[in-house]
Amino acid sequence: MKFFVDTANVASIREAYSWGIVDGVTTNPTLVAKEGRDFKETILEICNIVNGPVSAEVVSLDTEGMVKEALEISDWHPNIVIKIPMTKDGMAAVRRLTKEGIKTNVTLVFSASQALIAAKAGATYISVFVGRLDDAGHNGLDVVFDTVQMIDNYDFDSEVIVASVRHPLHVVKSAQMGAHIATVPFPVLDSMFKHPMTDIGIERFLKDWEKVPK
Ligand code: G3P
Repeated sequence: MKFFVDTANVASIREAYSWGIVDGVTTNPTLVAKEGRDFKETILEICNIVNGPVSAEVVSLDTEGMVKEALEISDWHPNIVIKIPMTKDGMAAVRRLTKEGIKTNVTLVFSASQALIAAKAGATYISVFVGRLDDAGHNGLDVVFDTVQMIDNYDFDSEVIVASVRHPLHVVKSAQMGAHIATVPFPVLDSMFKHPMTDIGIERFLKDWEKVPK
């Protein structure tokens, strides 16, 4: 399973990347706005830190506008993946961009049928928003399970991104289901390393080590 970090915060990305387990980055308009910085400058700085796919989202709602934005953004750096919302216009844009060899990440996917359409359109990545589904009283991981099964059944080229991750179990359960990627917010990724018994164990080993004659 690949790990992407779901943030536009350059300091967090730099730190997470230094841990040696980050394969890429996803951003969205909300995450970019949070940083209060220029979009292009932010994305390019991220591309210079991480050697892997970096998702940047278009904001147009019509196919022509999305394709125009996508062509411009994808020209900034070879690692950029264009994030496109799951709409009819969006899927028409995905089809055109795929033909042009531009990688896409279909975002705001909340059902297996939407995921199937994104795969048909030729999406490179399909982002299933598990946390927001859970928030709305559904089981987000059910959609991940169904999507992975459909991709496998038909050998679609799309990879499933588990997005809107809220806690480590979202990642672990998705890995058991065979999801290709989890895009994880920095605090959740950080918490995945931790267990109190590891800390206690280290403390005990170091204490005992002091008793070893030197
Ligand atoms: O970037 C897409 C997704 O991961 C956003 O998650 O936390 O806003 O539901 P969230």
